[in-house]
Amino acid sequence: MVSMRERFLITNLKGAVTPDPARAWAVDFIPDAALAVEEGHILWMGRRHDLPAEYKGAPILDGRGRWASPGFVDPHTHLLFGGDRSQEFNRRLHGATYAEIAAAGGGIKETVRATRAASVGELVAIGAERLGKFRHKGVVHLEAKTGYGLDLDTEGRLLAAYAELKSRGWSLDVTLMPGHDLPPEFAGDPDGYTRIVSEEWQPALVKRHPGVARFCDVFVERGVFTADQGRAMLESGKRLGLTPRIHADEFCSTGGAELSAQVGAASADHLMFASDEGIRAMAAAGVVPTLLPATTLFLGMKDYAPARKMIAEGCAVALASDFNPGSCACIDPLLVLRLACLQLRLTFEEALCAMTLHPARSLGHAHLGHLHPGASASFLLWDVKHPLDLVYWMGEAFLPEIAGLPR
Ligand code: NIG
Ligand code: FE
Repeated sequence: MVSMRERFLITNLKGAVTPDPARAWAVDFIPDAALAVEEGHILWMGRRHDLPAEYKGAPILDGRGRWASPGFVDPHTHLLFGGDRSQEFNRRLHGATYAEIAAAGGGIKETVRATRAASVGELVAIGAERLGKFRHKGVVHLEAKTGYGLDLDTEGRLLAAYAELKSRGWSLDVTLMPGHDLPPEFAGDPDGYTRIVSEEWQPALVKRHPGVARFCDVFVERGVFTADQGRAMLESGKRLGLTPRIHADEFCSTGGAELSAQVGAASADHLMFASDEGIRAMAAAGVVPTLLPATTLFLGMKDYAPARKMIAEGCAVALASDFNPGSCACIDPLLVLRLACLQLRLTFEEALCAMTLHPARSLGHAHLGHLHPGASASFLLWDVKHPLDLVYWMGEAFLPEIAGLPR
């Protein structure tokens, strides 16, 4: 990591690769690039021999022949949870389905039991360790949800743990998600749970932990919450100043994509079974479809989200890890990038936009996800001949140097 205080130049780069925030889906590959940085922000980026004279005397950081890219932004994680579900994973390998395990009281409910048993201090320690792993692999900013508490007390402790992680300097956006599942206390009464979350818990949590959560989320799925129950929780979140995101159409279509457009969500996530009308509605409303191909893989499903259809309709598709103990126990942005190319059929350029610029936008951060002037100098240095190597040499565990963190 370099000091970001003064003005300095990065030269001797093999190149820089970055989405262009001014042109949809455009990616620049700039050979022999240089970057001028000041106060943690990019002042100039281009070919070294075009460097304006005013930057020439600045101290130089040697890029050592590497490629610079923007840091990855992960817009969907369930960062904080207790325990793990490796036994359940093996039950799935023995033939049980995710839905069967959930219906028998395992799945999310098992993680809820372990999370309720964790103190704020334990949650902070777990979170810091996981955030370190994300950063090590090039994720400079991420979104992180509550949702494994499902009672007022534990959802509050999750918010307190996130607040502590933020105060330690981790760059993250928090999403309040008591509508992740129906807790055992409300078994058979999703309407009652919807009411208490909307009318009592969300207002109380936002009041007790002001400014911690920026977003709210709900799992709209057959057997979990209906679109109407989801709408009620998200509208309550909106009244509290939170912007909706939605777990939508993961196992079947229950109108989650359509709902995301109706409530003005920043993103709709999963979408393996989004309907054509839902896709058109997201495009028209500017919802960012957020695809989680590592989850499709980890669940052993065949149906990857219809990414090409979404792009053809004009959606600014984003990619995310969905890191969680049940459907994607995986911190590996390069795996997500590779699956996006190989299973969602994105080009490398599209997949790069979907790992950087588009998730940054869905989280409201214009200064993240690209290397153009004004961007945060939170970029990565990759020791590769060309950025395509990151996908092409599919088994390589390339690790970037993190040359600065978001400000
Ligand atoms: O995004 N879909 C719901 N929530 C998670 C899975 C949570 C779990 O199994 O613990 C997801 O896939
Ligand atoms: Fe999720």
